[in-house]
Amino acid sequence: MEARAIIAALRDGKGLTPEAARWFARGLADGSVSDAQAGAFAMAVFLRGIGREGRVALTEAMRDSGKVMRWDVPGPVIDKHSTGGIGDSVSLLLAPALAACGAYVPMISGRGLGHTGGTLDKMEAIVGYRTAPDPELLHKVVRDVGCAIIGATDDIAPADRRLYGIRDISGTVESIDLITPSILSKKLAAGLEALVLDVKWGTGAFMKTRAAAHDLAQALVETANGAGCKTVALVTDMNQSLGRTAGNALEVMEVLELLTGSEVNPDLWAVTSALGGEALVLAGLAGDADEGRARIDNALESGRAAEVFGRMVAALGGPMDFVERYPDRLPSAPVTYLVAAPRAGIVSGVNAESLGLTVVRLGGGRLVGSDKVNPSVGLSHLAKIGETFEAGAPLALVHAADAAAAERAAAEVIAAYELTEGPVSPPELIVERLG
Ligand code: URA
Repeated sequence: MEARAIIAALRDGKGLTPEAARWFARGLADGSVSDAQAGAFAMAVFLRGIGREGRVALTEAMRDSGKVMRWDVPGPVIDKHSTGGIGDSVSLLLAPALAACGAYVPMISGRGLGHTGGTLDKMEAIVGYRTAPDPELLHKVVRDVGCAIIGATDDIAPADRRLYGIRDISGTVESIDLITPSILSKKLAAGLEALVLDVKWGTGAFMKTRAAAHDLAQALVETANGAGCKTVALVTDMNQSLGRTAGNALEVMEVLELLTGSEVNPDLWAVTSALGGEALVLAGLAGDADEGRARIDNALESGRAAEVFGRMVAALGGPMDFVERYPDRLPSAPVTYLVAAPRAGIVSGVNAESLGLTVVRLGGGRLVGSDKVNPSVGLSHLAKIGETFEAGAPLALVHAADAAAAERAAAEVIAAYELTEGPVSPPELIVERLG
């Protein structure tokens, strides 16, 4: 095999065989394929497509380009992936809830990307929490606690890491045939038996239309199942922040409020419960999705998920009393600023991408890769679609490092909200199931 022939076949629309995918992924990982060849490969896939078989082949080849984890645990190993959004802290709820129901969840997570928040950045708001434990500790925590939210190590899907970097600078990110193997190769390298996917659509998602989210969900489900991992996807709404907070420590606070029952956000709960119900069915821990949802609800309500969360945090270096003392254990911003509704009305739309970028500009995300994230900043008490406001009533609260940043953010939040006079229904939260 040689790179030129593989690229020429792709260019001519002849697809990607499993042998060619394996050869190319190995070459990406060991450096024998050049940047120019990797860029041409990505562009040829982008323009000509590789179809279902090609996506499975590329997923398996990139998964196998590095270490594939193996688990010695007495229950099913499962995980969840979200395509990303604003105020989406479902992973922090779902990992301990699934573990409380008897599953084992090695949740390899990512950092914020563009306007979206990242699970790893949220966990790092907890002082001392280690997102990069050594393999022995990771295995011990998954075995003893049931879940661990951690980052990918360099030996997980190295072919994807190299190809993703090249796609990022060659205009080839937005291709379902490249996105699907990229997401799944990393997830499947965690040695999963089953996976649930939360594919977001809307103003705060990467997929701005329901049709685009459907197409991605379908490709992900077909490809993951084709690669031997039982997978279901839900397409869910991201036309506004899912929770009432956006920002790392603020979202951890919202998660702990839900886990401890002090303040329950119904949208966060509903998405967690729906994804968890599907996951428990795939894992053989529930007979159907209704039973699975009821088991997740019970894990959340009874405090068992909170207890697992606390044990995970302690085992990975965070405070031993995090669940009991979380308000004192999370960093808070020096300035809070109330965003007042400019006039009376009902919230009819939110530019959630713009809210996400406001959080990034406050310092809660990265404008360039080397930026250090400020865990304390962000937005809380976010108004939701369908809610009615008097002029001057609070639409949101800005948490900022200084007054000037707070005022800028407040103006951006006002611009992101549309207020109307007529009645408005909240958007449908879970719009489709594929699997
Ligand atoms: N996330 C990934 O991991 N890969 C992509 O290609 C897009 C989003």
